[in-house]
Amino acid sequence: MSPTKNYDRVAKTFDYFRKGDMRRWGRSQKEHFSQMHGRVLHIGVGTGMEIINFPPDLDITGIDLSAKMIERALWRGKRYPGKFRFCLMNAEFLAFPDDTFDTVVTVCVFCTVPHPVAGLKECRRVLKPGGKLLMFEHVLSKNPIYGLSLKFMSIFTAALEGTHLDRNTVENVREAGFKFIAEKNVYLDIVKTIAGTK
Ligand SMILES: C[S@@+](CC[C@H](N)C(=O)[O-])C[C@H]1O[C@@H](n2cnc3c(N)ncnc32)[C@H](O)[C@@H]1O
Repeated sequence: MSPTKNYDRVAKTFDYFRKGDMRRWGRSQKEHFSQMHGRVLHIGVGTGMEIINFPPDLDITGIDLSAKMIERALWRGKRYPGKFRFCLMNAEFLAFPDDTFDTVVTVCVFCTVPHPVAGLKECRRVLKPGGKLLMFEHVLSKNPIYGLSLKFMSIFTAALEGTHLDRNTVENVREAGFKFIAEKNVYLDIVKTIAGTK
């Protein structure tokens, strides 16, 4: 199923199933996103649950493929103590000129973007030289048992909802051309913060 159709379908109930994760990960996200600065592009804003973990006074553009997810994020954007605007846009074809943003942020998005390296190359293109990519993502575990389980579950999650639990996102970030890549485990080696520089 395409990400647009799937997330349009689940938008109404998304927050209900997501709030436990957000409670657990709030502190790690706040710490990681304290590095955000200047003009920010937020990829896959969804219903905007992570906006509360962003530092104040930034100029943020949140994009998503799903209009129904964006509709549900609007009130969170309004509450943000800075500038927050939304755009319906595909991460694989960003409609921004090269070297536009100081920071690009993602939360649990690059498991769903169909061509992750293409999306990450777009993130790099729109970042200014020296700009930062800050990701909070779940990835494939290197542990053989967890890794095999994630690969198996991914057969179903990919077919049913377009979510890939078996992505090597750190490698994808490298392949997209980012430098000084730093990763930190948040839960086992499955949920991670990842940072890279253009
Ligand atoms: C798992 S949700 C995460 C939403 C939010 N970041 C969160 O953590 O609660 C993934 C989001 O990425 C969006 N998405 C998937 N592929 C995309 C793409 N190619 N371009 C833009 N957004 C995309 C989906 O529409 C969805 O809102």
